[in-house]
Amino acid sequence: MPVLLLGVSGGIAVYKAVELTSWLRKRGWEVRVVMTENATRFVTPLTFQTMSRHPVHVDPFETGAAGVEHIDLARGCDLVAVVPATANTMAKLANGIADDLLSTTLLATRAPVLVAPAMNTAMWEHPATRANLATLQARGVQVVMPQASGELACGEEGAGKLAEVEVIAAAIERRYRQGASLAGVRVLVTAGGTREPIDPVRYIGNRSSGKMGHAIAQAAAERGAAVTLVTSSGLPVPPGVEAVRVATAAELTAAVSERFAGSDVLVMAAAVADYRPVVAADSKIKKGKGSIHLELEPTVDVLSTLAPRKRPDQLVVGFAAETNDVLGYAEDKLRRKGLDLIVANDVSRGDIGFETDQNAVTVIGPQGVVAEIARMPKLQVADRLWELVAERLPRA
Ligand code: CTP
Repeated sequence: MPVLLLGVSGGIAVYKAVELTSWLRKRGWEVRVVMTENATRFVTPLTFQTMSRHPVHVDPFETGAAGVEHIDLARGCDLVAVVPATANTMAKLANGIADDLLSTTLLATRAPVLVAPAMNTAMWEHPATRANLATLQARGVQVVMPQASGELACGEEGAGKLAEVEVIAAAIERRYRQGASLAGVRVLVTAGGTREPIDPVRYIGNRSSGKMGHAIAQAAAERGAAVTLVTSSGLPVPPGVEAVRVATAAELTAAVSERFAGSDVLVMAAAVADYRPVVAADSKIKKGKGSIHLELEPTVDVLSTLAPRKRPDQLVVGFAAETNDVLGYAEDKLRRKGLDLIVANDVSRGDIGFETDQNAVTVIGPQGVVAEIARMPKLQVADRLWELVAERLPRA
């Protein structure tokens, strides 16, 4: 049974940590709770004790069964989650301050740490909090970002509300299952289908929605990577990810080429147009009597251009969305484009691939198939893909 050390710091969102405790316990987790003094003002330790079925710890001078309390707690868990994490608790963790049981335990643990901040918008946006957040992420602490907007207890509207319990619980479970962290790894991901203008109102596009690429960016950020997402999709940008919006193949090529040297991993999930109209009309093309001809010219192939230039420490991953002979075409693309991995995606089935929330893929490397990922939500597929990429990254 996995053991979660749940750190609870003071804020109105404490009640959601009670719900989280109950949810995790039902899913087979053993939850050990440490509360700050302030947290006990919102919800009593007895509530957490009842939910977790274990004594709750608050006092740093209490002695544990085997010796020093904070060391026992820090050692005896698989994962630590701080929910809610106040600005003060984040600041203490970022700066190594240990002045109560929770902050001391956080300093003493070697287990992966996840924090779910919750605070007033101004506090969340304060440069001090932003700096602490960046420090924590750079150290591999996973941050489950607060909701981007919502009504806060102080009456304000804005960012800072604790993420939904299900979102935090899913992040905890994913973090527990995954081994490798991507802390310090710079990741460049492309997503969505490009649009090549014919005239101001029409374009040549494709069915790629950007869901897979956005999930890949999110999963990398959750593992602590510094992620840049070059996207033509209108989907929301995952928390903690820097987005560069593009529309055409030319814009995407420029954005990726500029950032390639500064990245450790490039994942090309975008469906880049292979051809674009030679000229895009300045005004709307009017309907005539007969047929019209559209002359198309090839676009630049980003992977074929960049992969040969990669440094030995860089990894390049491509996608192959195919309708027939999926593995054969994917292997051919891996070789032709000089890739480290290719994700073969059968887009002829209706239940996976383009526009769907689920996917099932085969990942191929230079030596052949490295993994078959069965049908599951795109975020989980993305997480499995990062596991494979992390195994191939050169060790620092
Ligand atoms: N790709 C790219 N630049 C392009 C077109 C595609 O970098 N101009 C990338 C895609 O992002 C994907 C991989 O190449 O990771 C394979 O894309 P795909 O369109 O399947 O391959 P093509 O080489 O265009 O081959 P085809 O269209 O004939 O299947």
